[in-house]
Amino acid sequence: MLQFLVLTALFLLAGGERIVRFISSDGNTYFGDAILPANTTDAFFSTRARVIQGDILGNFTVTREIKLLAPLPSERVRTGNMTIPQWPILFYKPWTALNTPSDPIPVSAGFQTQGNFTSSMDWEGELVVVIKKAAYNITDDEALDHVLGYTVGHDVSHRGWQIERGGEPQPQYSMGKGADGWAPWGPAIVTTDIIPDPQVLNLHTKVNGVTQQNATTADMIFGVKHLISFFSMGTTLLPGDVIFTGTPSGTNLGKVIPQYLVNGDVVEVGLENVGTCTNTIRYVNTSSDSVNSFFRL
Ligand SMILES: *[C@@H]1O[C@H](CO)[C@@H](O)[C@H](O)[C@H]1NC(C)=O
Ligand SMILES: *[C@@H]1O[C@H](CO)[C@@H](O)[C@H](O)[C@H]1NC(C)=O
Ligand SMILES: *[C@@H]1O[C@H](CO)[C@@H](O)[C@H](O)[C@H]1NC(C)=O
Ligand SMILES: *[C@@H]1O[C@H](CO)[C@@H](O)[C@H](O)[C@H]1NC(C)=O
Ligand SMILES: *[C@@H]1O[C@H](CO)[C@@H](O)[C@H](O)[C@H]1NC(C)=O
Ligand SMILES: *[C@@H]1O[C@H](CO)[C@@H](O)[C@H](O)[C@H]1NC(C)=O
Ligand SMILES: *[C@@H]1O[C@H](CO)[C@@H](O)[C@H](O)[C@H]1NC(C)=O
Repeated sequence: MLQFLVLTALFLLAGGERIVRFISSDGNTYFGDAILPANTTDAFFSTRARVIQGDILGNFTVTREIKLLAPLPSERVRTGNMTIPQWPILFYKPWTALNTPSDPIPVSAGFQTQGNFTSSMDWEGELVVVIKKAAYNITDDEALDHVLGYTVGHDVSHRGWQIERGGEPQPQYSMGKGADGWAPWGPAIVTTDIIPDPQVLNLHTKVNGVTQQNATTADMIFGVKHLISFFSMGTTLLPGDVIFTGTPSGTNLGKVIPQYLVNGDVVEVGLENVGTCTNTIRYVNTSSDSVNSFFRL
């Protein structure tokens, strides 16, 4: 839910637990600590938050760039007959791909079916890591000290542009995954106080209410610690950088009869102790449809 009622702006909590960015009933945008309803740990259903003052990352500026990779948890490697990579695979999505936990996922004409090039929109539910403190050349053991918290994300992927039109043998991740609004995430950044160990969480994806992915982050090939240290080898990770950590089995990759997403399909991605994002695939057919009201800066 995007609309939160602001109860108090009078004090700053010692530490946020479920950090959300939201538009309040006064029309202004705030960071806040989501107050959970009594019956769920899914911050998607929060309707209230305590306002946070100051910068959630300390004194640093938030970058608007998403860092993304797709190291594949073991089950997908088995079902898809893919080779387990020796090193994590890293690629980037632009910040314009960010989307809220509830807005539509826009699909412009070039990604819809055209003649014999069939639209092949696929889902990928993922654990997402948010960096708090700059990291360069750090070790696995140091990695979690650089993490603000975790959330769930949908790495929306068009297999036709990613693979078929990718220029064998190289895929082209950015055309296949980088369109506006193709990285829904949220509904809150749950801090490391609440999730000290990111490798014990259930992760699921439902399409039109039917479970398609149901896995545990314990099965990731490379854990969060190693991903962070590996990426920091020569590239400084900055406060606010967002790392999507790859998806388990249950996508359309390797399926004999794929069931790709079409206009109107509803995808829910969920992570234990974090909550859900639920977004509808929406074909956008004109440039006025495409003017991006889907992501919030
Ligand atoms: C929680 O309770 C409210 C009513 O207080 C209900 O509307 C909502 O569906 C419940 N949510 C869940 C996830 O059970
Ligand atoms: C952040 O603020 C503290 C206290 O005001 C200051 O000591 C510190 O140097 C600042 N850090 C940066 C990176 O600006
Ligand atoms: C698909 O259609 C294009 C023309 O639009 C044609 O050049 C191409 O050979 C066709 N490919 C297949 C596999 O039929
Ligand atoms: C990276 O860290 C290692 C120790 O873990 C150190 O030996 C090396 O000099 C560091 N490299 C750079 C460029 O800082
Ligand atoms: C995932 O599988 C577990 C164990 O079979 C089951 O309890 C749970 O309901 C499943 N989750 C979803 C979203 O289908
Ligand atoms: C994976 O490989 C096995 C054994 O080579 C084969 O039987 C199976 O059909 C393959 N699965 C896919 C999805 O290619
Ligand atoms: C775009 O066109 C498709 C197919 O005609 C239609 O189902 C969809 O609703 C249209 N989208 C918008 C945003 O008008």
